[in-house]
Amino acid sequence: MKRAIYPGTFDPFTNGHIDILERASNLFDEIIIAVAVNSQKKPMFSAEERAEMIKECVAEYPTVKVDTLHSGLLIDYARQKQAVAIIRGLRQVADFEYEFQIALMNRHLCPEITTVFLMPNEKYTYLTSSIIREVGALGGDISDFVPKPVLKRLKARIGV
Ligand code: COA
Repeated sequence: MKRAIYPGTFDPFTNGHIDILERASNLFDEIIIAVAVNSQKKPMFSAEERAEMIKECVAEYPTVKVDTLHSGLLIDYARQKQAVAIIRGLRQVADFEYEFQIALMNRHLCPEITTVFLMPNEKYTYLTSSIIREVGALGGDISDFVPKPVLKRLKARIGV
């Protein structure tokens, strides 16, 4: 049983995240999406709201679970879940330096857990959750970039 953790702030979850999730699902028996409470970010949706939305988005994937990571180290969480890997999406060179630091620190803390980087489809390389929030708030059409349950919540929150 090969289990992987897919962590992120997911504020909100996008089609780019789904793209990564689908690729990871082809490689691992089980994926746990871990919704992080990142103290450096001020999220639009609470961790519970984000987890709830993601559950609706991944309902059709039987090997995907959703959990929240309220405190502590991601690597400790991954170890506790007996995961063999941490999944991260790598969209462009700009992501690399930050991801490299985190991956190496996590490997130092727990050499048995490997960070696996997956590249999304090119059409999602410029996508971020911040851009979705901003374009949505300013009235732009974001329906090509977020799953329906997310669009519904964004409509209710900011009237996109
Ligand atoms: N499609 C669309 N957007 C994507 C994407 C994809 N495929 N892959 C990444 N992104 C975006 C995210 O939406 C996010 O956008 P935003 O900055 O506008 O919100 C950005 O890329 C990266 O953020 P995210 O993936 O949410 O990661 P993060 O930088 O918030 O870090 C953790 C999340 C969980 C990895 C990190 O906070 C963590 O490890 N926390 C636990 C504490 C810990 O262990 N710290 C020590 C680490 S060594």
